Amino acid sequence: MSISLTKLNSAVTLVTALFFTSCQETPRVSGPIENRVDSLLALMTLEEKVGQLTLFTSDNDVTGPTIRENYKGDIKAGRVGAIFNAFGADYTRKLQEIAVKETRLGIPLLFGYDVIHGHRTIFPMPLAEAASWDLEAIEKSARTAADEASAEGLHWTFAPMCDVCRDPRWGRIVEGAGEDVYLGSKIAVARVKGFQGNGIGELNSVIACVKHFAAYGASQAGRDYHTTDMSDRVLREVYLPPYKAAIDAGAATVMTSFNEIDGMPATGNKYLMTDILRKEWNFNGFVVTDYTSIMEMIAHGVAEDTSAAAALAIEAGVDMDMQAGFFNDALVTLVKDGKVKETLIDEAARRILKTKYELGLFNDPYRYSNPERQKETVMKPEFLEASRDVARKSIVLLKNDKQLLPLSKNIKRLAVIGPLANARKEMIGSWSGAGDWNKAVTLLEGIKAGVSPSTQVLYAKGCNINDDSTNLFAQAIQTARQADVVVLAVGEGAWMSGEAASRASLDLPGVQQKLVEEIQKTGKPIIVTLMNGRPLTINWIDKNIPAVLECWFLGTQSGHAIADVLFGNYNPSGKLPVTFPRSVGQIPIFYSMKNTGRPMDPNNKYTSKYLDESNDPLYPFGYGLSYTSFEYGDLALSLPSMTSGDELVVSCKVTNTGKYAGEEVVQLYVCDKVGSVTRPVKELKGFQKISLQPGDSKNVEFKITNNDLSFYRKDMSFGSEPGAFVVFVGGNSREGKKGEFVLR
Ligand code: NOJ
Repeated sequence: MSISLTKLNSAVTLVTALFFTSCQETPRVSGPIENRVDSLLALMTLEEKVGQLTLFTSDNDVTGPTIRENYKGDIKAGRVGAIFNAFGADYTRKLQEIAVKETRLGIPLLFGYDVIHGHRTIFPMPLAEAASWDLEAIEKSARTAADEASAEGLHWTFAPMCDVCRDPRWGRIVEGAGEDVYLGSKIAVARVKGFQGNGIGELNSVIACVKHFAAYGASQAGRDYHTTDMSDRVLREVYLPPYKAAIDAGAATVMTSFNEIDGMPATGNKYLMTDILRKEWNFNGFVVTDYTSIMEMIAHGVAEDTSAAAALAIEAGVDMDMQAGFFNDALVTLVKDGKVKETLIDEAARRILKTKYELGLFNDPYRYSNPERQKETVMKPEFLEASRDVARKSIVLLKNDKQLLPLSKNIKRLAVIGPLANARKEMIGSWSGAGDWNKAVTLLEGIKAGVSPSTQVLYAKGCNINDDSTNLFAQAIQTARQADVVVLAVGEGAWMSGEAASRASLDLPGVQQKLVEEIQKTGKPIIVTLMNGRPLTINWIDKNIPAVLECWFLGTQSGHAIADVLFGNYNPSGKLPVTFPRSVGQIPIFYSMKNTGRPMDPNNKYTSKYLDESNDPLYPFGYGLSYTSFEYGDLALSLPSMTSGDELVVSCKVTNTGKYAGEEVVQLYVCDKVGSVTRPVKELKGFQKISLQPGDSKNVEFKITNNDLSFYRKDMSFGSEPGAFVVFVGGNSREGKKGEFVLR
């Protein structure tokens, strides 16, 4: 479309004025952001509006299967309004200059990136952080990431991932908060608050993106990109609440998921994006697709070609096309042919432009691309300290026979063995975008820094993470024999979890299990430190190794954080945010299951169980030990019965009965005994992380309100039903003190 020179000049004048509205009052564009957006939209061609609806990757980083060769040409031609996988103050400024100086209207670009668990200073993987149950530390982790990312020109992170996941075969379980609705919702809020800080447009904040909408964590058989199928009840009760919590906390954007749900890919799913997200939840930010997911609707078999896929997406409620380029290729013609209403394009462009205004980009398109600030901000010592703090809080003590841990710092000879003992690259885990693995601290280094100068630290690799060679076994066995204590670091490679990293087996990969068995035969006291992005089936280790620490992937400060726990500088307080199965055949296994009509009875064949496996998990949700011990007193309930307007207080005295100071995550679970539809055996409804000196006690109180007892009833209305309830308070989902009350 051509534009006359006079028109172009007046357009440029107006847009220039738009940039400076904060300092120069221009009558035509003053007032609320909405008015400024409308004035700008009135100047834009259809092509330019569609350009704003388009997000392309730069070639700086690769996070998907396609790359756009000429993305700089796309910027210049006004075919793209946002770029991802580009960061760094100088680089983002360079790209921004093309948009601002070389396009007709000079509309600034939005820069997005997967800042998942830290930007330069890498924090523990999200699943690991969830094990800390420490909302303040989790918020701080996101805040730090936002500070670093925004100092490198980024405006937008593709996080938090709020997908509830009950299938550890799915590699992306590592990116979320685990299996639980309540914990997942609280963590989603903490992350949004951390990323967005005091508000959109603050220089050290980035806008959040709630993903993957919806129910991506329920991909069948744990296979990535696979189908999801579930009842509306399960969708609403289990999978939607964490996304909703994040949106209620102010998340500015939402990303669609790759999966289909009820026969329609999420990217073409009007029920999800319009009926639920916009109409029920009043979400007023913008929706971006996942990587090429508009294009993938052709392979799904719901769209014949580019035009059909683009029409399906925009009509369902998508505002921005990530990387498919389908909006670019098809929307203009679709509108001109009368097949798609231009108002839909206007609406989507309006939402995106509004966000750019809120970020302050029309006032100063380069405000986040400041090399000075970048230099001052990135990897500050206080960020490293924050990373180490949440890293040690994320470690879960799974077993500690005869108090083998904590170790003395004065051990004479300590052997550190295993393919993950000195594996620097693995420490920062997957999705660590701009993180530099060279800066990570390995376990061996952490241990060396943690022991006394007189301790001799021996090292042997033992084997690789994932091949079948046993060549290094002999040397490892020899090393173990020389030592007083062995720390054995086994698990997965960082690349074995995350996107496109599903596994059908949850055993230790390669020959690691054999290595553990060989080292165990030496008879030395062994501590296994597991590093992994998902629950693993470690029955043999649980049975035969005296001490086991779940260390996940803890980020830049991994080695120091693990050493802090090994030598008792920090008493472990992490609790599992996800159930550890005994075998893959038990999956899905999670604590809030339904009872069935034939609950398991070992003496009755015709009850719900396996012939060849127990029903019980290896470690339940919420489980984690401490170097000290906690005793739970009987529960006191403030009322024997309550009405929907009441608040019932459940209290429990928790005492530190061991000899170390320690923290305990006190958990509250509720069970609705009889409902108009079946209810889970228990559901987490509260938790508090408390700190106790040896011998000290604390009375922990939880308030139960009608909302905690509400669910989707038979008619799908949300509310409670009168009847009997059971409450449990304990240190994990399996054990707890019990009480009962009635809702009248
Ligand atoms: C695909 C992933 O599913 C999504 O989580 C990520 O944000 C995008 N790629 C961009 O890298």
